[in-house]
Amino acid sequence: MTDIVAVTEIKGRVINVSNRLPVLIRKHAGGARVERSSGGLATALDAGWRHQRGIWIGWAGTSPGQHIEPLLLKASQARSYTLRSVSLTEDEIAKFYSGFANEIIWPLFHDMPSRCNFDPEYWEIYQRVNRKFGKVTAETATPDDFIWVHDYHLMLTASAMRQAGVSAPMGFFLHIPFPSPDVFEKLPWKKPILKSLLEFDVIGFQSDHDRVNFVACLERLLPEAKVEPGIPRVQVRLEGRRTVIGTFPIGIDFDEFARQAAESGIEAHSSEIRRRLSGDTLVLGVDRLDYTKGIPERLKSFRLLLRRFPEQRGHITLVQVVVPSREEIPNYKHLRREVELLVSQINGEFTEPGWVPVHYIHRNLGREELLAYYRAADIGLVTPLKDGMNLVAKEFCAAQIDERGVLIVSEFAGAGPELRCGAIVVNPNDFSEVAQALHDAAIMGVEEKRNRMRLLREVVKEHNVQRWIGSFLQAMPTAEAVISKRGAASDLGSQYIFSHRRDETMPGVALVATALSPDARPRYQMGREKLRMLGRAAGED
Ligand code: ADP
Ligand code: F6P
Repeated sequence: MTDIVAVTEIKGRVINVSNRLPVLIRKHAGGARVERSSGGLATALDAGWRHQRGIWIGWAGTSPGQHIEPLLLKASQARSYTLRSVSLTEDEIAKFYSGFANEIIWPLFHDMPSRCNFDPEYWEIYQRVNRKFGKVTAETATPDDFIWVHDYHLMLTASAMRQAGVSAPMGFFLHIPFPSPDVFEKLPWKKPILKSLLEFDVIGFQSDHDRVNFVACLERLLPEAKVEPGIPRVQVRLEGRRTVIGTFPIGIDFDEFARQAAESGIEAHSSEIRRRLSGDTLVLGVDRLDYTKGIPERLKSFRLLLRRFPEQRGHITLVQVVVPSREEIPNYKHLRREVELLVSQINGEFTEPGWVPVHYIHRNLGREELLAYYRAADIGLVTPLKDGMNLVAKEFCAAQIDERGVLIVSEFAGAGPELRCGAIVVNPNDFSEVAQALHDAAIMGVEEKRNRMRLLREVVKEHNVQRWIGSFLQAMPTAEAVISKRGAASDLGSQYIFSHRRDETMPGVALVATALSPDARPRYQMGREKLRMLGRAAGED
């Protein structure tokens, strides 16, 4: 492992552009109020940029007609960067956000093409809204700035900005998975999307799996693009432009989560939750209410656990927290009914005096309440059917300051391979395997739990959101023009500074090995014996 610390300095400002701002304006009878947006993008970016100057352009999550500027100004004052809103009409919300983004791209990119509604009108409005975001950004940016566009809602913005004459470097990060060519090619508008993405200078993916899929799509569907292979970064040339393609697994602000989790108020709240919930083992699921999160499958696995291990009845309790999400979309309405029916069926089958097996919470929790649940839990159950990364898994580890909890994570989340070192990794479609994992976690010894969680917390701490930002900025090919790289962290005169340790154990590099050779997998899966030895080496028994 080399241990070079590099410092990246942007001469101008960083302009983050995403569909959603980190705050959302919610209307209520007396007016409107500001809430924290849920979702991994908003949580991670807000934490990563909170103390950096810059601009964040996005939608405030509300329909037009709302007087939102004073509310956004107030939210900006709590941060170092400025929030600038892009307003969407009712029609755009329906056809761009709910329609193209979440009824086509979201299910397709999560390998669920049968859930797609390929309405051609959605495509029209998607192009129009991308031009709108591109225009607002073009009016804001100077050539010294760095424009960083996030996620699948805005894949066409680079061409819109280039047409508007923007010369500032532009990067794009996809927070969700990228599908294989067999799935992607079902999209009627696949070519313009690929071509437009190649107008960015850097394109980042969560995992090597996604990056490899994207390059395979280029090779099959856009043969005029010349791919120059490389690990971990690939370069692609098209029409005189060069694009760097890399893997940058996103992280969380570990120190902030760990610090807040240790506060006495959170500790008291967490003890109160445990006191009020009967049973010895508290299992926690926290998700947006989304069909990709595998919530019905998780409930069925929990039901199987109770059927197969009757001795656990009365002793194990599942708390499933869901944030309402995309409620206008039919698939999401059905999901809510399905989840609520399953919860009531399980409770109907197993509840005893003094014990309710599933506690179901359907609302957005404040940070303190969320942390209290993370701390109270014995098992974090994170079993999406497919997920770009899944930050809940990382937040759970960061909040486990007393190293008591066990993480069970899906192999189909970006976080699965990355956290393989200490988590129990499961296939969420295999209810029997998940039930067994829950049972194993419930009876796991204190020492093994501690050793596993210690490893997990090291990984989550090391691969944090600050490092993610630093590694993405350093991938900019126009570094000489816009970014100066220095060898030491001593010159802190610049606006944007992120230290980034180059490290051969970066998950991106590790995942290449996983993808290339199945034999490499055991390196990342810590066996129980090894965990016990680690504990002994640290003088713990
Ligand atoms: P996604 O981006 O698909 O929603 P992630 O797991 O990456 O999935 O991110 C979810 C984010 O939303 C996390 O930061 C988590 O803390 C937050 N979140 C999820 N459920 C809730 C909830 N009920 N209340 C508040 N925040 C939540
Ligand atoms: O992290 C993935 C993501 O899709 C974000 O892009 C999005 O903001 C978030 O999940 C939540 O979804 P929504 O913005 O539709 O509420």
